[in-house]
Amino acid sequence: ALPRVTYSNTGTDFSAVHDRLDRLFPQVEAALADAPLIRPLIDGAAMSGGEGFRVSSPIDHALPVATAEAASADMVVRAVATARAAQRAWAARPWDERAAIIRRAGDLLDAMKWQIGPVLVIEVGKSRMEAMGEAEEAADLARYYAAEMERNQGYGRVLPQARPRESCASVLRPYGVFGVIAPFNFPVALSVNMISAALVTGNAVVYKPGQINVASGRLLVQAFHEAGVPPAVLAFLPGGAATGAALAAADLDGIVFTGSHDVGMAIHRQFAAGPWARPVIVEMGGKNPAYVTASADLDRAAEGVARSGFGLQGQKCSALSKVYVAAAVKDDFLDRLTRQTATLRLGDPRDRAVFMGPVVDGRAADRYQAVVAEALRDGRVLMGGERLAGGIHDRGHYLAPVIVDDLTPDHRLNRDELFLPVISVQGFDDLGAAIDDGNRVAYGLTAGCYATDARERSLFLDRAEAGALYVNRASGATTGAWPGHQPFCGWKGSGGAGGKGGLGPWYLPQFLREQSRTIML
Ligand code: NAD
Ligand code: ALA
Repeated sequence: ALPRVTYSNTGTDFSAVHDRLDRLFPQVEAALADAPLIRPLIDGAAMSGGEGFRVSSPIDHALPVATAEAASADMVVRAVATARAAQRAWAARPWDERAAIIRRAGDLLDAMKWQIGPVLVIEVGKSRMEAMGEAEEAADLARYYAAEMERNQGYGRVLPQARPRESCASVLRPYGVFGVIAPFNFPVALSVNMISAALVTGNAVVYKPGQINVASGRLLVQAFHEAGVPPAVLAFLPGGAATGAALAAADLDGIVFTGSHDVGMAIHRQFAAGPWARPVIVEMGGKNPAYVTASADLDRAAEGVARSGFGLQGQKCSALSKVYVAAAVKDDFLDRLTRQTATLRLGDPRDRAVFMGPVVDGRAADRYQAVVAEALRDGRVLMGGERLAGGIHDRGHYLAPVIVDDLTPDHRLNRDELFLPVISVQGFDDLGAAIDDGNRVAYGLTAGCYATDARERSLFLDRAEAGALYVNRASGATTGAWPGHQPFCGWKGSGGAGGKGGLGPWYLPQFLREQSRTIML
């Protein structure tokens, strides 16, 4: 068996995985180029008449990924009504039957990972390890929620009698129809996360992938349908913001969204203005810090910081974008960090040695240019700021990783989510004050710490305001959460009202409402 990837390419021999991918890329590229038009799917039937669009690869704009038609507002209404009509029968199926179907979907996704991984490289510009890691995460996510349903025995519980001859129970029941809206950067794992959770708990789903993710979205929907999810219970609606807005405005019983803060909060407000309180689960952006203390293993810290700042070109909600370094070791650490970063290869992510591919589109490249100009004007740029040119690099946006020091603490680049390969550095004398400063942003998704001193580690764990904390990880200071091991929950502007993260044990109850049942015997 080939080694599992789980995002990490350190310490394991993945040459057999690479050999297989070498053979697969030409086949997958040919299949994408020849693939039929991707249309909205409602009750398994393809809908025609939506606005057409093309997706090309961020790796090379001449490389086609898909042609598709977006779901119109009418199709959204129809998909929700169809899902509603089918949901009752789905909810009436025994919970263990639904869990078995979702586990089967996970197994199918696992079997499809050699198709999904290369598609993710081409569709998003992920490195091979990021793409295969995501494909494996998706499979594990579906299986994890099936196991959670079983561990909780379908969320039914017998309760003590209130009076003689009465039985009492608490059961958690589905809401009805959930809208699922996914981001472009983890299109398979995060879609499977939201869809599996909603389905296994007995809800029906109307799913809209990121606009560029029609090819991967279509594949994962196929896995759920083939596993036994009735087609009417899971609709697939390609499209962009207009389709998403129509879905958020539709007659839903709940919505689960992963994406940017502004869109997530707009959906949150819109739902709050609805006819009654409905569940709205929103996982949003991040501005994620790491703290490197004087007691840290600096090589490990440099590796973890570089990998989580620059993996997927900084386009992760979990990406590290700010590193606080103890003044006593700052020069030494920055020397290691710049040397470590220089080893990270930037280029065509179909190549096995490449760690960083292109950013997703021209808007991201424009943002990079603006950020670099500000960094040069207001700080000290230690490396980066240029874009690769020539050959394929002229047909995509290949941007060198940036490390910038000496920005003022309140500088925009130290406060806003940039979603780019940019790390800003700040020295500190007092760890507690540094953590307080790291907390002083509108987000709270992930945070990391490098320290061998146990008191420093405790201070970090007690004080950092983020939903996912990591200590001393070489494979990533703030990234790489895995189902069942690192629940992934946003605090403050990174998360929603539910406050319980995907990938963890408290996620599923958010898709369920309680009913107490008292029966006189
Ligand atoms: P985005 O907010 O632009 O888009 C997310 C989804 O919302 C897409 O499907 C998009 O088509 C749709 N959409 C856009 N406008 C809409 C509207 N007005 N109404 C309804 N839907 C709309 O985000 P993105 O660029 O795809 O993804 C990047 C963002 O997602 C970053 O901010 C990143 O931090 C965040 N993210 C968060 C997590 C997490 O778990 N917290 C994970 C991945 C990405
Ligand atoms: N699972 C991804 C990470 O933690 C989002 O980086």
